[in-house]
Amino acid sequence: MTEYFELEWQKFQKTSEEAKLAFFQKEGRIFDILFARQFERKQLDFLSNLATKIRLVAKRKEGADYLRRLLTHKKAMLYFVQPSTRTYLSFLNACHILGIKTSDIRDTFTSSEIKGESSYDTIRTFSSYVDVIISRHPEKDFNQKAAWLLNSTDRPIPVVNAGSGKDEHPTQALLDIYTLHRSFEHRGGIDGKVITMVGDLKRGRTIRSLSFLMKEYKNMKLYFIAPKHLMIEEDLRSFLKKSRIEFYETDNFASVIAQSDAIYMTRIQDEHDNDKEKTQSSYDDFSFTYEHLSILKKDAVIMHPLPRRNEIDVRVDSDERAVYWRQERNGMWIRAALLAYIFHVEKSILDV
Ligand code: NCD
Repeated sequence: MTEYFELEWQKFQKTSEEAKLAFFQKEGRIFDILFARQFERKQLDFLSNLATKIRLVAKRKEGADYLRRLLTHKKAMLYFVQPSTRTYLSFLNACHILGIKTSDIRDTFTSSEIKGESSYDTIRTFSSYVDVIISRHPEKDFNQKAAWLLNSTDRPIPVVNAGSGKDEHPTQALLDIYTLHRSFEHRGGIDGKVITMVGDLKRGRTIRSLSFLMKEYKNMKLYFIAPKHLMIEEDLRSFLKKSRIEFYETDNFASVIAQSDAIYMTRIQDEHDNDKEKTQSSYDDFSFTYEHLSILKKDAVIMHPLPRRNEIDVRVDSDERAVYWRQERNGMWIRAALLAYIFHVEKSILDV
């Protein structure tokens, strides 16, 4: 990026959180989907209900055909320059459910960046051809910077953050909320539930985004379970305090299983390891074992953003409280709902 843009960007970064939230909105709606804190309860409930409607309508051929005709004039760019299976496939299929055409780049070696083009010029080029950019990038600020940059061009198309380094994964948080919403539908909803998050809480972006959304629910109780060196970061801790969310941090997983309504397991993000963080070779204490099933509440749920390594015993998969495979599929429905919202066709779906 040229020096000019860099200076302007630094100025923008110094603005308040409220100013940033406002910047990424248009006509009272969220325009760029960049961080979980952009969402309020009414949008979370709305998107969950819209996802369910899409899921039900798509079951029948006439319904699926109807949905597929809604956005045939729109095109999406899937720019995924960090490994992805689920997020990529669920966005791709979500686009196709609504008839959105897709292109993708999954490796910077196959784009002109290898010739020295800046990522920002690359992003601007995408905007010449498509109507939305869905982007996963290893740098924390890349997606936000891309959205900010496009806003000052003659084609300010929305940017959707499909994962930004260790920082945020807002659409994963939406699918996690949708999974919780479905799981607790007949148990008074998400409010008042006890949610336990386990594993690499320091570098797991799904944990961060989901925790930020907890501000929208009443009387939540959160347990964060991690080895000390992988515990949540200070910024999240102060956010939770400021938002008056009840939370506890411990490395004793077994002690909280019986009280939890949802257990959210995550893998150790060792691609970020450096010598300082590589202080522990076994994470067995942060795994959900087959034996744990006997102390888990009858109506609790076990979640995982996936991919998993060995932090959940595969024998747990067949227990009806293990919802991670459904959670993965929920990602496609909520992302279809999000795209319908972005392109203003939600009414055409709800009215079916
Ligand atoms: C997560 C991610 O990419 O952050 N995966 C996903 O999108 N479902 C979690 C992970 O990689 O551990």
